[in-house]
Amino acid sequence: MADVYILGIESSCDETAAAIVRSGAQVISSAVASQIATHQPYGGVVPELASREHLRAIVPVVRRALQDANRTYESVDAIAVTKGPGLAGSLLVGVSFAKALAFALEKPLIAVNHLEGHIHAVLLEERQKGNFDVQFPLMTLVVSGGHTHLYLATQQGESWRYRNVGHTRDDAAGEAFDKVAKLLALGYPGGPVIDALAKEGNPYAVKFPPSQIKHPNRGEKSDPNEGPQFDFSYSGIKTAVLRYVEQNGMRERIEQRRKALEQMQKPKAADVRALCDQQTVDLVASFQRAVVDDLVTKTLAAVAEYQIATLFVSGGVAANSELRQTFEKRAAEVGVPAFFPSRPLSTDNAAMIAAAAYPKWLAGEFAGQEFSAEAALPLR
Ligand code: KG4
Ligand code: ZN
Repeated sequence: MADVYILGIESSCDETAAAIVRSGAQVISSAVASQIATHQPYGGVVPELASREHLRAIVPVVRRALQDANRTYESVDAIAVTKGPGLAGSLLVGVSFAKALAFALEKPLIAVNHLEGHIHAVLLEERQKGNFDVQFPLMTLVVSGGHTHLYLATQQGESWRYRNVGHTRDDAAGEAFDKVAKLLALGYPGGPVIDALAKEGNPYAVKFPPSQIKHPNRGEKSDPNEGPQFDFSYSGIKTAVLRYVEQNGMRERIEQRRKALEQMQKPKAADVRALCDQQTVDLVASFQRAVVDDLVTKTLAAVAEYQIATLFVSGGVAANSELRQTFEKRAAEVGVPAFFPSRPLSTDNAAMIAAAAYPKWLAGEFAGQEFSAEAALPLR
């Protein structure tokens, strides 16, 4: 079969990205313009600023992806774009741009769910390594700044279908990393810096009782016609960290760190480490261990319940070193292979969108010019 070159476009949150992927199996180019510097002073993504930055970045980013791939606009076979879920204003920039491009070039348009993109990031890289043999039933944990979702994936012809068997009741895991980092003045985004600091801390120093990571639903059936659900909750642990800070008189040290970091242009993890005492590093390590342990334990309970053959873990938090190590070890103990994307493909990118579009190309699932962005688009 002839090679198919898909141009992917992603703008659902705070990264403007474009990529060219060949036949869902080879990244030819992948350009990402991050807005971290824009949102850093606020300690979180500011939606209005995000849309403005996407507008600024979209044309140069798409051009860069084409240039890096040595391709012209005319030589791509289809244009794929993230339809949702995400920030409405941000999604709209990518969707409008992709529609205009598809119309002008007379190319087919493919609408992709961002979460399906994260799942296909794993598949794309396995294919790049020559592994085309994925065993079903397949479960995938998508764990990012906006999502903590468990899906059962099946294949129907060329297309993939999904069933949600777990989600967070409140904060997403990545959101908890970002909020705890903000609370402790460790910088933004929180995940990478907590990941680095935790390596130097004692993960058993602070005990978070299991009730602080609530288990509202752990394998129970909320609907008699559905399978058991495995839900998550990460707002309790953030409150527990706050309580620890208050009880241990850490406020002043945090404010000092906040001021010191404000003076720095682009603080690195080592700069943050130099501003942290051991108690803070131990607290961070204990927080990370509690979240990782909960994510892995619940996911593996779902893997056992649904007799899963293959596990995918994807999304920004899948970049976390301790999460990877723990999953690899504990999934291997129960004989289930666990696959992760490389770090650049764990966080938001457009290669995953172009890869997820490939089965839709094969199945002829194209979007009309009338489709629009959907901030709360479910994955099915
Ligand atoms: O997938 P992503 O780029 O965007 C969303 O779709 O949300 O994920 C971003 C999230 C942020 O919350 C960030 O703190 C987290 O992923 N993250 C990490 C790590 N790298 C990024 N969390 C834990 N450990 C990391 N190494
Ligand atoms: Zn994402």
